[in-house]
Amino acid sequence: RVDHAIRPRRLADYIGQPRVREQLGIFIEAARQRSDALDHTLIFGPPGLGKTTLANIIATEMGGELTSTSGPVLEKAGDLAALLTSLNEGDVLFIDEIHRLSAHIEEVLYPAMEDFQLDIMIGEGPAARSIKIDLPRFTLVGATTRAGLLTSPLRDRFGIVQRLEFYAVDDLSQIVSRSARLLDMDSDAPGALEIARRARGTPRIANRLLRRVRDVAQVKGDGRLTAGIADTALNMLHVDRLGLDHMDRRLLLTMIEKFDGGPVGVESLAAAISEERDTIEDVLEPYLIQQGFMLRTPRGRMVTRLAYEHFEIAVPSQAPDES
Ligand code: ADE
Repeated sequence: RVDHAIRPRRLADYIGQPRVREQLGIFIEAARQRSDALDHTLIFGPPGLGKTTLANIIATEMGGELTSTSGPVLEKAGDLAALLTSLNEGDVLFIDEIHRLSAHIEEVLYPAMEDFQLDIMIGEGPAARSIKIDLPRFTLVGATTRAGLLTSPLRDRFGIVQRLEFYAVDDLSQIVSRSARLLDMDSDAPGALEIARRARGTPRIANRLLRRVRDVAQVKGDGRLTAGIADTALNMLHVDRLGLDHMDRRLLLTMIEKFDGGPVGVESLAAAISEERDTIEDVLEPYLIQQGFMLRTPRGRMVTRLAYEHFEIAVPSQAPDES
């Protein structure tokens, strides 16, 4: 897939997330100097910000192989045991959505993380016995949307915890320029900036929008990424000036029109827009909160003055300011 080709492979090619880049750079270099595996690393943050990319980069920088799986896929202890026993020294095991591991798989993971020991039961009934297998020193990279979703024994076993933030527009703009170059597309700085401004702080969205803008540029323009063609394409895709898409608008407008701006509980909101609660909490609201369109309060979600203003709806006197 094209997505794969434009993913950075080395930490030096990774744009944005300056704190994460600096810290991981130091920890990786130190582990390498000691010829040791990198400590187990937990990466959390909203979808599309580069958790999988970072797992790939860690494996490359440590000179190990990457094996990827995800929490819901690992059903039986034997599934995890098979993965762990095929690792070599310094390899990376990446578990996406690690908060969705079942309790008995977590139990297998604890001694594997802590002592590089696999402790499993084989057989059933009177013939059942437990066997211990030594594992190579590997690095577990876990990814999740919110650190609070993990059980604390699991969270406590990660020596390195990194939180990904939404990207600054300038960083996203550099990512769009780089991706355009890798897609063999001519671009100018205002064109890259227009996509960056309207990509919800998220590289995955920026790269997806870039491909659609490329289609429009190819068919309706001269193939170049300019601000004009980006604006045309993004308007066509109903991505508004501030980068809010159809779902974002539906969430905010439902809060305004059906719940008087809130406070409204997340479950009621999920029912009103026919979405999963998790989608609201993990995908939709983090960006809307960061941009100041809505707030989480102890009594529920509320829209801010900024949201009313964005939709050019009269602001009620009780609407909170963005904070
Ligand atoms: N592509 C997607 N995310 C990226 C990042 N953070 N740096 C460079 N290219 C990217």
